[in-house]
Amino acid sequence: MALYSEKVMEHFLQPQNVGVIEDADGVGEVGNAKCGDIMKMYLKIDRDIITDVKFETFGCASAIASSSMATELIKGQRVEDAMKLTNQAVAEALDGLPPHKLHCSVLAEEAIQAALEDYRQKQERNKE
Ligand code: FES
Repeated sequence: MALYSEKVMEHFLQPQNVGVIEDADGVGEVGNAKCGDIMKMYLKIDRDIITDVKFETFGCASAIASSSMATELIKGQRVEDAMKLTNQAVAEALDGLPPHKLHCSVLAEEAIQAALEDYRQKQERNKE
């Protein structure tokens, strides 16, 4: 069996939503100390709906595929639903990742959580 599913290869070779959102409402950056990979997520949110999402990933094929899939999964979703996105959901949507590559999907979950947390904090600050 091939190490990577066709979906992983597809999202690695043609990742969706790569880039930067200059006026993002939430930005999250996370890294994995062991492998050194870094992922940054940008969210544009309008009335609690994620209207746009972009990412920059400096990392392995699985990390790029996971970022791409994760952005596709949360685009158009409500903030509270995006908060529930798990790395398992990302890995499943990619038709699985090799066990030693599951941490790459964890990075995607964490980057989205970090961007949503940044959004939440900005909202709080705007209320003050
Ligand atoms: Fe670390 Fe993929 S090897 S994110």
